[in-house]
Amino acid sequence: MDKLSLFPTEDGSVTFWSETFQETFHSSHGAKHEAEAKFVIPAKIAEKASTQTQLNILDVCYGLGYNTAAAIACVSELQDRAANLHIIALENNLEVPQKAIASGLVDIWQPAIAQILKIAAATQTVTTENLSLQLLIGDARQTISQVPSKWADAIFLDPFSPPHCPQLWTVEFIQLLANSLKPDGYLVTYSSSAAVRAAMLMAGLQIGAISPIGRKSPSTIAAFAPTALPPISENEAAFLKTRAAIPYRDQTLQSSAAEIIAIRKAEQNNSQLPPSSSLRKKV
Ligand SMILES: C[S@@+](CC[C@H](N)C(=O)[O-])C[C@H]1O[C@@H](n2cnc3c(N)ncnc32)[C@H](O)[C@@H]1O
Repeated sequence: MDKLSLFPTEDGSVTFWSETFQETFHSSHGAKHEAEAKFVIPAKIAEKASTQTQLNILDVCYGLGYNTAAAIACVSELQDRAANLHIIALENNLEVPQKAIASGLVDIWQPAIAQILKIAAATQTVTTENLSLQLLIGDARQTISQVPSKWADAIFLDPFSPPHCPQLWTVEFIQLLANSLKPDGYLVTYSSSAAVRAAMLMAGLQIGAISPIGRKSPSTIAAFAPTALPPISENEAAFLKTRAAIPYRDQTLQSSAAEIIAIRKAEQNNSQLPPSSSLRKKV
């Protein structure tokens, strides 16, 4: 299993460093802030929870539970809350939320929200008067089959980066996410990778940019037409016409990271598209 060590971030919240993935679970600029600014705010959770009677969130890669907690906090602070909140969260390593609790990391949230995360980590199901949370443990490529089609008002897509966890950024997996998204729902992720954006376009989604937070590159928001999205820049659009936009593929939804990377590399080597390095020289 993964070896997790504590990693303090600049907003005072603490996340983990993963030995297996050689990556932190959140941006060093602030784990709590990232959950709010890159996921909850762009997905318009507050607006939807004020105007709908039910709000469904699919949290892909639950981890420490911060994205789920930030969504619950946002909805529970609303003066004009109309919605009951339903969250389905996908995570393959139950030790992550359990260790976050054992280490006291979830105590950055209001006690009632920390309590919800504790129950979820212990029993995988939480039901209150106006909230349900189901934590599905297993490979998200398989557990996604338990999410109804056209169910999610918002999808938080938060795996480790594409080079380290390509399994959850493939054309095939993103197609399954698109299938579970409502026609007016939002799919949000921190990544601005051209390969990921290309996979979203192949799944029939439009893509937009979320202004950069704590780094140079923007993140990505996707939705079906005709939902309006903030446009990506000309420079970002240019990357979509290079080999960087050759997406990750996993036809069986069971390939290893190494297999997915090798297939993409071969496709890039045979491609007529220009390399992205040609573009970088110009910008
Ligand atoms: C970047 S972290 C997510 C952080 C999380 N959203 C949070 O707010 O704490 C990525 C998570 O993906 C999980 N993961 C990795 N591969 C997975 C897979 N195939 N299926 C489901 N979860 C996976 C890891 O265990 C890790 O918890």
